Amino acid sequence: MSVTGHLSDIAAIGRDATSGGYRRLAWTDADLALREWFIGQASGLGLDVETDRNGNLWAWWGDASAGDAVVTGSHLDSVPDGGNYDGPLGVVSAFAAVAELKRRGVQPRRPLAVACFTDEEGGRFGVACIGSRLAAGVLTPDKARALRDVDGITMDEALRRAGRDPEALRAEPERLARIGAFVELHVEQGRGLIDLGAPIAVGTAILPHGRWRVDIAGQPNHAGTTLIADRRDPMMGLAMLIESARREAAERDSIAHAARATVGKVRCTPNAVNAIPAEVTGWLDARAQDEATLDAMLEAIGRDLLDLPGLHVQIAMESRTPAQRFDPSLSTALATMLGGAPLLATGAGHDAGVLAEVGVPTAMLFVRNPTGISHSPEEHAEDADCEAGGVALAYVLAELLTADTLPR
Ligand code: GLV
Ligand code: MN
Ligand code: MN
Repeated sequence: MSVTGHLSDIAAIGRDATSGGYRRLAWTDADLALREWFIGQASGLGLDVETDRNGNLWAWWGDASAGDAVVTGSHLDSVPDGGNYDGPLGVVSAFAAVAELKRRGVQPRRPLAVACFTDEEGGRFGVACIGSRLAAGVLTPDKARALRDVDGITMDEALRRAGRDPEALRAEPERLARIGAFVELHVEQGRGLIDLGAPIAVGTAILPHGRWRVDIAGQPNHAGTTLIADRRDPMMGLAMLIESARREAAERDSIAHAARATVGKVRCTPNAVNAIPAEVTGWLDARAQDEATLDAMLEAIGRDLLDLPGLHVQIAMESRTPAQRFDPSLSTALATMLGGAPLLATGAGHDAGVLAEVGVPTAMLFVRNPTGISHSPEEHAEDADCEAGGVALAYVLAELLTADTLPR
């Protein structure tokens, strides 16, 4: 098994020489190169590849139409300046596991697919898990097509430029109904497995989370001549948003109870050093242990932005995802197959969560991250843990493919 060998194969694709991070945004050249790589790997293993209406890739071993399929995989896109593990580890482990099962001569009783979902990170168009949300029907094709990237290019246009037909986008409930079990392997994106002292855990749930866009308009004016008392400076609104997000999350966050709020993306117009800006936009990512905590945190942040003198503030939700629970029977079965692997919830979003939301039996395997750092060029996993993840995935896939029935 060489999970890390496969990771090295793609290590140069989309890597930014300055930051050392990956810029594999959806439908860019890097993404298209990774799609080619996926097709090459699948063909090398004798799998039949199809690209579905929403651009998700499926590599089939067995009859794709038969139902009760075991599906594994993840995504190949990245956040801007992400690492080489978030997403790709699940895809390369899936190919390594299938190669191992074929080498061992495993005779599946049901079809298997390696899947790669489109634009999981939402790094280009702002909404995460676009491919799985479209398939699940929780994002409409019209809304998806109208999303814009930072250059103003709509998803409709980006799809056309990549040779795709945007009119093809649609929910695919029949496709999802053919999945009997979806197992997504992913690098852990926190410190849970360090604390547990284990290389692999089985995922249980994803915290409720969402993204909000906060537009703050003021009065553009001269930096040198405008009295401080006369200013209507939207940057002060952004400062309030950042401070409030931090304060409201910190008040509610602890080891036992999660509350997180981040302003990781901002836009300033016109962005001139000697001018008070006309408008500033900050994107708020907020997540919490439960819906009530998330709502309370958002309300408190919204209150802080209500009455900023001289500024006009508009808050728009770009996406919101409820608490997502993986299939308890499947998760328990995987933990047992893996000799009592620990169970772990996560604050990171995943396609497996979106599929779980619409009733697909899903589970996740997390591979230890020795620093907990993710969405960063510094993201890392030890080779031995990556290989252990591949072995664990191959084991559970073999069990699921040869069982009389799938866990229910
Ligand atoms: C995806 O990784 C997310 O949690 O935003
Ligand atoms: Mn991911
Ligand atoms: Mn991610």
